[in-house]
Amino acid sequence: MTDSSLTAPVRSLLTPVRLGAVAASNRLVMAPLTRIRADERGVPTELMVQHYAQRASMGAIVTEGTWPVGEGRTWIGQPGIESADHIAGWRRVTDAVHAAGGRIIMQIMHGGRISHELVSMTGRVVAPSAIGAPGQIRTPEGKQTHPVPHALSGEEVQQLIEQFAHAAENAIAAGMDGVQIHGANGYLVHQFTAPSSNHRTDDFGGSPENRARLSVEITSAVAQAVGAERTGIRLSPQTNVQGVLEEDGDDVMATYRALAEGLAPLNLAHVDVLSPEPGGGLVQMIRRISSAPLIANTGFGHPTTREEAEELIRLDVAEAVGIGRAAIANPDVVRRWAEGLPENEVHPGVIGHKCVAE
Ligand SMILES: Cc1cc2nc3c(=O)[nH]c(=O)nc-3n(C[C@H](O)[C@H](O)[C@H](O)COP(=O)(O)O)c2cc1C
Repeated sequence: MTDSSLTAPVRSLLTPVRLGAVAASNRLVMAPLTRIRADERGVPTELMVQHYAQRASMGAIVTEGTWPVGEGRTWIGQPGIESADHIAGWRRVTDAVHAAGGRIIMQIMHGGRISHELVSMTGRVVAPSAIGAPGQIRTPEGKQTHPVPHALSGEEVQQLIEQFAHAAENAIAAGMDGVQIHGANGYLVHQFTAPSSNHRTDDFGGSPENRARLSVEITSAVAQAVGAERTGIRLSPQTNVQGVLEEDGDDVMATYRALAEGLAPLNLAHVDVLSPEPGGGLVQMIRRISSAPLIANTGFGHPTTREEAEELIRLDVAEAVGIGRAAIANPDVVRRWAEGLPENEVHPGVIGHKCVAE
């Protein structure tokens, strides 16, 4: 008699995985982490080249949220992917990551109403509806209340979709192995998904299908522009941050079902879902219906641990795990976790401008 536990292949964090065109050497994916280290025009700096190259042993890196157009900027010092200078700056990052044997995917993030006239590079702040976000935002003139945003017209929504597709082309021109649309954490795409921030009465508001439409249309346009095998999306159902609230469980299920059904025909490279319950019905429904490899991230409650990540893979909850704060504190987190070495502690004062919700 053989003991199957000795012969069965063990799904492990350290085995390779394919995320569309991205051949990841292990299942630890560096989660997108805003660092605010670009120059004032959003061009990546030498520090960013070093930061990403140091983390090339991650199976894949997802970059910090990067604006497709200046109107989508949320923080001064956040990078962009709109101009030739941005492409050249990011090319230095991708060359360095590739030279170190890594893979890198750009997160494309439009902040929408999480901005300010002094931060948005057009002086205008936009959103699905003219509803200001609660709280304050950092500006060059100190903290200010979020403004009431301009509600995008139907024509402007179509332009926005094209802006995402164009940004994705720029990302690939900069040498990225893929792109990820930021549909999470209360920024523009998520502002369309959630009923509290979207009071539209056109095809992009109202029913769950209509609120899911922008995510699907942007993802389709991006997939058409750069290939579905290089396209993914990040979602965070019910993170309930920045006034983007999804509090009705039935509505959440219906909305994310519509979203996953819209994504399914695309055959995406990944869906990245941030949720404290990655094994729960909602996240697994998104995984099953979208039929895309799942990158699971357990959210902001506490920094992801090795044990947690191992379990998610061992129990087949996800194809890969997003690692955030541990990857900031430990550039070589893959080696440390592989060899059981001690870890640097996550230090909120050092890792960022803001740890609540990005
Ligand atoms: C400093 C900081 C910056 C972040 N920036 C982003 C971002 O740009 N885009 C995004 O989708 N999530 C962002 N997040 C969320 C992380 O990707 C991740 O979901 C979160 O840190 C939870 O994972 P962890 O427990 O492994 O840190 C950020 C988190 C932190 C702490």
